[in-house]
Amino acid sequence: MNTGIPIKSVKESFRQRFGREALYMVQAPGRVNLIGEHTDYNEGFVLPIAIDKRVVIAASPRNDRKVALYSWNYNSLNEFSLESIVRDNLNPWSNYPRGVADLLQKQGYRFSGLDILIASDLPIGAGLSSSAAFELASAWAFLMAGKKEGGVEVSPSGAFSRPQMPESLDLIGLCREVENEFVGVQCGIMDQFISARGRRQHALFLDCRNLTEEQIPLPDSVKIVVCNTGVKRELAGSEYNKRRYECNQGVHFFKERIEGVSALRDVHSSDLERFSSKMAPLLQKRCRHVISENERVLESVRSLRAGDLEGFGQLVNASHESLRRDYEVSCKELNVMVEIALQQAGVLGSRMTGAGFGGCTVNLIRNESVNLFVRQVEERYQRETGIAAEIYVCHTSDGAGIVGPQELES
Ligand code: GLA
Repeated sequence: MNTGIPIKSVKESFRQRFGREALYMVQAPGRVNLIGEHTDYNEGFVLPIAIDKRVVIAASPRNDRKVALYSWNYNSLNEFSLESIVRDNLNPWSNYPRGVADLLQKQGYRFSGLDILIASDLPIGAGLSSSAAFELASAWAFLMAGKKEGGVEVSPSGAFSRPQMPESLDLIGLCREVENEFVGVQCGIMDQFISARGRRQHALFLDCRNLTEEQIPLPDSVKIVVCNTGVKRELAGSEYNKRRYECNQGVHFFKERIEGVSALRDVHSSDLERFSSKMAPLLQKRCRHVISENERVLESVRSLRAGDLEGFGQLVNASHESLRRDYEVSCKELNVMVEIALQQAGVLGSRMTGAGFGGCTVNLIRNESVNLFVRQVEERYQRETGIAAEIYVCHTSDGAGIVGPQELES
């Protein structure tokens, strides 16, 4: 069970802020991607896990078609009317629930109004998908109080068993659209998908082309340790879009030469070798990362199924090298963090995770070595960079949904 957010204080804070009880609480987790970086928007493969850091929302409907948002972390209040939802550039954090409410209304949902309190223990800008978690939690909060005209009502009454979400609603797609259109970040589908569909003690093997998914059991002999470099990935926005553009150029190149190519997912290493002399060196590097990374994800799933953790660890290491050299989305601190990690005992693999240019590394560590690993990496990273790293020993968690009675009463 997640213990990071004190549910009792959140409930109490809701009572103080809104003068009544929260009728229900929902939550959505952040994620760490084990392997398959910058492949989702190339219609490729990813292997993320949902983690035990998350966004929790306490909510109660109101009747004046207004939504009041209170951020527990920022101690900040924001309000909007459901009659006309616009972006609020002064309070960008409010754009996630604004976007969710707007798109749900456009899909025919009706809400009478909502008081919402948001609490999160996900660091912002650390590459652990706090945005996707906020979107998914917001979607659940609204759906618990909403009704689709002529459709199924989703009601919080009889709560705390998972309500049936209307089948036609593509919650994951909707949240991604919020990010793309309302918030303005051209992300792929991975983050919203894992925040919605994660499962405890499993990694999610997702084919980002046809959205087929498979839960891959994780062994309990290793821990996933996340090391936050403390460098916020500020460059990510512009560089991320640049990489997307470069990938499109790659698609264009191969489309003219190989039949049936519509994304880099369709190109194999042998194709790349065959045509490399005709490609600009930079384009070649970008394509090599995506093509080889897709192959590494498939190989990783085979390794995990076979219980070959060393093999998996090597693929994780190779992923970092490829992101560093070919895709050029790493940074000095991420590289230092990985180098230090790889010198420790019990480390099977280490690499940057997420979009890059800062944020976190993901490390696969044998259980018995975790404590020493955390101490040594903390100390050496501080010594070499002057930055205090935050290190989390992650637990996998289930995807978005209602905060259950056990936790509510704890
Ligand atoms: C960000 C995006 C994801 C994905 C990763 C890189 O987290 O939101 O869609 O592209 O970067 O793998």
